[in-house]
Amino acid sequence: MTLPVVLGTIASARETLRGKDVALVPTLGALHDGHLALVDRALELRGTVVASIFVNPLQFGTGEDLEKYPRTLEDDLAKLGERGVAFVFAPSVEEMYPDGVAETRVTAGRVGDTLEGRSRPGHFDGVLTVVAKLLNAVQPGVAVFGQKDAQQVFLVKRMVRDLNFPVSIEVIETVRAEDGLALSSRNQFLNPAERRAARVIPRALEAAESAAERGIDAVVAAAQGALMGEPLVELDYLRLVDPSTFGPLDDGYRGPATVLIAARVGTTRLIDNAPILLGRR
Ligand code: PAJ
Repeated sequence: MTLPVVLGTIASARETLRGKDVALVPTLGALHDGHLALVDRALELRGTVVASIFVNPLQFGTGEDLEKYPRTLEDDLAKLGERGVAFVFAPSVEEMYPDGVAETRVTAGRVGDTLEGRSRPGHFDGVLTVVAKLLNAVQPGVAVFGQKDAQQVFLVKRMVRDLNFPVSIEVIETVRAEDGLALSSRNQFLNPAERRAARVIPRALEAAESAAERGIDAVVAAAQGALMGEPLVELDYLRLVDPSTFGPLDDGYRGPATVLIAARVGTTRLIDNAPILLGRR
């Protein structure tokens, strides 16, 4: 197994990757099988894959888990090397933000203030700003993201369209543990009882899917019913959105929708979502 070449500066990334048509997989590190599924897709799309590992302070709010976010670079490099990833872009905070904070930022607009953005003010401006910087540093032909973070994917796609980045965005489905829980670097913070309780989140999404043909109210009731059975899980939001706008659905809407759940299990905040097809019998 060959370890990936680590590029620590924007200049070295530009220099090394010049003229190469690469696929980029942006991550915060602490890689799990969800991230590796993105890497596998990237390897199908392009011969050369660059994974980025950067814990972006700009997307963490005060009181969030920036300090305790797991940093496991050695393990991450081994996993990426095994998969056949040639390059890892792993800049320091000083390299990405030499002036301390980026005064110039990308704003995510109104959708950026809803749902995850409402619970985490400024989060999506931070995400879009760093994704723009990563795209400019690596200049990939394609970048791969996970549907697990549905609102992030929506906003990244819109930024790429709005700001004319010459990159295509590829999205892959959420990778789950055997019991349905979406893989997340934050799952390691769950104690055994919390880990068991967290299963109710994918179960609520399944309940939502089963109720889809009976319409919005039935979907909400089904998902809420499932979640209420688990006292360790404290719901932050349960919402249905139109996947094309990420806005609310009109009454009587039929067609594709995304069910979004955010919940706190102990001190750990988890998000998950599922596509459904709303109809009426
Ligand atoms: P991170 O949470 O490390 O996730 C990196 C990528 O992996 C994202 O596109 C995310 O949607 C995807 N991912 C995470 N868990 C997944 C799962 N269970 N199945 C499929 N894909 C999954 O998201 C970020 O980092 C950051 O916001 C970033 C885009 C890197 C910007 O800093």
